[in-house]
Order: sequence, then structure tokens, then C-alpha cells
Amino acid sequence: MSASLFESKDLSHSLWKKVLDRAVSIKNETYSAPQNLSKFKVGLLFFEPSSRTRWSFEKACLDLSIPSMVSVVDGSTSKSKGETAADTLDLYLELGFDLIVVRSGQDSETLKRLQETNVPFINAGFGGDYHPTQALLDYFTWTNEVERNVSKILIMGDVAHSRVAKSHMRFAKIMGYQVGLLPADGLDLTQEEREDLKPEITFSDRKQAIEWAEVVMSLRTQKERHPEGASFKPFKALSADELNSDHIVMHPGPFMRGEDLEENLVKDPRSLIFKQKRNGVYCRAALISCLLEENQKEKKGSL
Ligand code: CP
Repeated sequence: MSASLFESKDLSHSLWKKVLDRAVSIKNETYSAPQNLSKFKVGLLFFEPSSRTRWSFEKACLDLSIPSMVSVVDGSTSKSKGETAADTLDLYLELGFDLIVVRSGQDSETLKRLQETNVPFINAGFGGDYHPTQALLDYFTWTNEVERNVSKILIMGDVAHSRVAKSHMRFAKIMGYQVGLLPADGLDLTQEEREDLKPEITFSDRKQAIEWAEVVMSLRTQKERHPEGASFKPFKALSADELNSDHIVMHPGPFMRGEDLEENLVKDPRSLIFKQKRNGVYCRAALISCLLEENQKEKKGSL
């Protein structure tokens, strides 16, 4: 089986450690990518819109000198002629890439193809459930940008549709941090998700939740994933006067000023939002290079 990342538990703790250590070396400019990395080819297949994730994967490939091809599935592709996402993915899997990065909507056929393929891949966001590289870069950010140990992460807002929140609950079990939830009205996990993801603590009192937290992460309300006709009470934007001087503010992006967090928090000294964007490049470069290496070892082993 090839080494791929669909959800956090697909990689061992030791491989995650290696990825995180390598991301530190890339950040500190002490990592030199082996020359043979440039013999690999990476394809970036995006069925859903993206700025941060797509561009950071693209930049990571540039930094590693790995040739890459970006493919956005839109009206210019055979989607417009009725080709399904799963069939488009099938086509992509045949193009001969050494690794593909895929962002997809919730689609059981696409998921099935990913589960069956031998082409190594990285999940760059799947429906409302999985976004493991966001959890990676967030963890990297509070671990490397703050000069103290941080372990209590509060995630607030549209938890129901947040693949970031769900990915953190999975990654937390591997890396050993605590995730607290403050769901917006009507936008909590389902009972089934609760049993699966086992959130550490869920708050109904906002003040108590923020007092508990070291990192406060607000989320975008994902209206595009809401059931048609549904309307939810707007969530109160996170504001500076709710926080103490030690709080750390994060947001996976894209952030809505005045809806998810107040305008003045975006560049507040407590905000790591811009560090998250930059660290996304280091983490994704580290992950791509580690997975290519793992798969190379695997191939040699099977000769
Ligand atoms: N955080 C995140 O996934 O952002 P994009 O949708 O812009 O990639």
C-alpha cells in the first residue's frame, strides 16, 4: 500500500513527528531538498474553490523544485459535459503522477476511488469532514510561534460544517492536545459525530469557554454547506474585549471580518492568522517530501 493522507490516523505518530520536524527545518532554511525530489511529478486536483490550501501546495512544490500541475475542475473541464467527479478523478489517477493532492466535495464515489487507488495522495479538504493538513499547520503554528506550551484549543462557530474542527478532534488524539467546542446555535455536531470524534469538552457558556482556552479559533459560517432554506442565528464575532492578554487568536481562513471576528483582531498582536498562512507552505512542503520518500522506500522494498 502506498503512503497517503486522507485522515490524520493514516500516518503514524513517528511520521507526523518527522513531518513537523522537517517543517521546522524548512522554516529555518536548514533543510536542503535532495536533488532527486525533482524527478517526481505532483498533480493538484481541485474540485472545490481554494486560495490558501491550493496556493500553499503550489508554493511548496516550487520551493522543493518539484514539477507540478494544477487542475481546477470547473466549466472549462469535461464536468460541463456531464463527467462525474469520480470519473474525473479516475482520469487524473491515470496521468502518471507520483503524488496527487485532491480537494473534493462530499462524494461517496470519489471517496471510494481514493480508498482503492495505489497512487499516493494528500487530502486537501474533503466535504465538511476532513482537512488534515489544516490541522497540521494550525498545530505547527501554536507549537512554533508561541514561547510556551499550549494545549487547550477552543473552536467556535459553525462546528457542524467545519472539516477543520473535525480534523482537529482527530489530530488532537494523535498529538495530545485538547479541543473544546463552542458551537453556534443549531450548528453543533450530530450525535453520531460526537460518538466518533469524542470532543473533549463542549461549552454553552461563551465566557466560560474563552476563559478555558489558550487558543481561540473562530470559524467561517459555511453557508454554502447549509441545507437549502435553512437559516441560523448569526454567531457573535469574536472581539478583542472578550480576550485576555495571553490568548492566541487563530482562524483557518477565509475569514469574514465582522462576522467571525472583529476587524481589529485580524492584525492584533495576539493573532497568528498570518503566520498560519505562511506555515501552511512549510508544513505542506514537509508533508509532500516525506510522503514521496516513504513511497520511494516502499517501492524499493517491494522490488
Ligand atoms: N483554510 C482553507 O482551506 O482555505 P482555502 O479554502 O482558501 O484553501
